[in-house]
Amino acid sequence: QRHLISIADLKQHEILDLLDRSERMIEISRQERKSLPTLSGKTQINLFFEPSTRTQSSFEIAGKRLGALVVNMSVKTSSVSKGETLIDTAATLNAMRPDVLIVRHSAAGAVELLAQKVGCSVVNAGDGAHEHPTQALLDALTIRNHKGRLAGLTVAICGDIANSRVARSNLLLLGALNVRTRVIAPKTLLPPGIENLATEVFSDMEEGLKGADVVMMLRLQHERANGKMIPSVREYYRFYGLDEQKLAHAKPDAIVMHPGPMNRGVEIDPSIADSERSVITDQVEMGVAVRMAVLDALLPPRNEP
Ligand code: CP
Repeated sequence: QRHLISIADLKQHEILDLLDRSERMIEISRQERKSLPTLSGKTQINLFFEPSTRTQSSFEIAGKRLGALVVNMSVKTSSVSKGETLIDTAATLNAMRPDVLIVRHSAAGAVELLAQKVGCSVVNAGDGAHEHPTQALLDALTIRNHKGRLAGLTVAICGDIANSRVARSNLLLLGALNVRTRVIAPKTLLPPGIENLATEVFSDMEEGLKGADVVMMLRLQHERANGKMIPSVREYYRFYGLDEQKLAHAKPDAIVMHPGPMNRGVEIDPSIADSERSVITDQVEMGVAVRMAVLDALLPPRNEP
């Protein structure tokens, strides 16, 4: 693979290879030196048209731990704010001969379009409500490390499924690895055709959580609501906010995940977010390892003459 745009483009053995490669990157990141210079001499440009805390900083750390020259383009202060198009911006950056572009954009399909216009590798860091492939990889790595396996587990993804690229990428990846997937959401927050992606679909939180090994919470994505019905925060928390009472329906050893950013008191109670069952900060650590693995896999070292 030259690009990573969608989990749908990956075969099962490629997903497993990336997860195994990530294990080595966890080891490196936990050492004092934290470096493996396989990307020495390579240039990585992070181009984020949407805000990010975790993805952008972890891609930057991942590239630097592998010895790449990493440039963070600030879209707000770039010529995009003067009307330059996505394609012209891509062509301009391409002329500087980067080896990889890491791109986040609000429009589904924009990253794939950009990948067709440049001569380097492109990684999708989230495109609209379409996909967020490295998030799904880091989630799978977190689950595998906590549960010791993936196949045969039941993962419940709860919340704003309709607007979530995280849900979509996770459903594709977990499905490819024979994980039973459930989605739980009010009917207004379920996308059409969800039955083709998830093993089971629920609108009742307690029903959907019964016997789950993993509970993955998602925030309400107001920025993508686009006039669609979003419930009030109070109403949503009452029926879909994860608290002790609702979590009691999952398995006693179920872990709780959240890709972030998290809205405490909306989709998750602070007591759950901070509990021993929460693996949210582990997800962040796995994010660096997975992004190191993806860069390492996409950018093999050049054969020196
Ligand atoms: N999970 C995630 O994509 O977080 P950021 O928006 O902070 O990158």
